[in-house]
Amino acid sequence: MKTRITEMLGIEHPIIQGGMHHVGLAELAAAVSNAGGLGIITGLTQGTPEKLANEIARCHKMTDKPFGVNLTFLPSLTPPDYPGLIQVIIDGGVKVVETAGNNPAKWLPILKENGIKVIHKCTSVRHALKAESIGCDAVSVDGFECGGHPGEDDVPNFILLPRAADELTIPFVSSGGMADGRSLVASLAMGAEGMNMGTRFIVTEEAPVHENVKQAIINASELDTRLVMRSLRNTERVLNNPAVERLLEKEATLGADLKFEDIVEEVAGVYPKIMKTGDMDAGAWSCGMVAGLIHDKPTVKKLIDDIMAEADAIINQRLKGL
Ligand SMILES: Cc1cc2nc3c(=O)[nH]c(=O)nc-3n(C[C@H](O)[C@H](O)[C@H](O)COP(=O)(O)O)c2cc1C
Repeated sequence: MKTRITEMLGIEHPIIQGGMHHVGLAELAAAVSNAGGLGIITGLTQGTPEKLANEIARCHKMTDKPFGVNLTFLPSLTPPDYPGLIQVIIDGGVKVVETAGNNPAKWLPILKENGIKVIHKCTSVRHALKAESIGCDAVSVDGFECGGHPGEDDVPNFILLPRAADELTIPFVSSGGMADGRSLVASLAMGAEGMNMGTRFIVTEEAPVHENVKQAIINASELDTRLVMRSLRNTERVLNNPAVERLLEKEATLGADLKFEDIVEEVAGVYPKIMKTGDMDAGAWSCGMVAGLIHDKPTVKKLIDDIMAEADAIINQRLKGL
């Protein structure tokens, strides 16, 4: 399957693994790239330029295919060393960067001068158009269903993707709620040139996270995610657990007076405890509604091969036969 995204990124299948804090390590990124998609290392999980350089080098040892790095720009009192992180991305020969969070305009010139393709992840048509206007090569359009930060507009992909198709000139991939061949064909039908998956890739043999995380997603249904931090305008879709219920209770009680300090226990430093140690009630961690479609733990290659085979069958048998 050739699309503007496979051509742009030099990959076989139009499937991208979105950056995921403490999940997007070299093992997963390399497995996705080796299977013909685009794997992505999560830059901020490494934190320092030295550690990111090391992770990029590890990934190069595991694959000779293209892979990317995610750079998430969030407001922070002590911002990460973005110039240093970008320098090791350039020095490490990485050719694709997935940006997310704040407008990446400040960092585009140096990335583009070094021949790096920039895919900006956005949750609205407005932000996607902004990304196009500042020179991003593509966007990842993240619907309300998505695990992580769906923004504040709450527009699901059945509306968001065709809206993006109507407005954008640069290619885009769908993101949020994508799991299988049906997702891919639907995304293509709505104008996307491929799809980005987060939660689905966590439940694979190669994802370097504790088995409890994979089992929790398999056990979850589409009803088991919650939106937290809405009043802070930093909405995150997470899997429900006792810590999330405590957090929601605080939000309901404090209302507009809620401050980040009130929920530190439920949200700060949670990821290593969940992803490495498997302490599933340690706090709030991102998970998409797509958990309801995830029932198995295949290898990444089997997952991607099955998606492509199912997409082919839908297009060439079911749809052609209508
Ligand atoms: C556990 C987890 C951690 C995530 N961490 C990040 C992150 O650090 N940066 C980022 O841009 N997106 C992050 N995301 C969002 C994903 O890249 C992707 O956009 C999202 O998972 C797509 O929705 P889906 O989970 O329904 O596939 C995360 C998602 C999950 C599930």
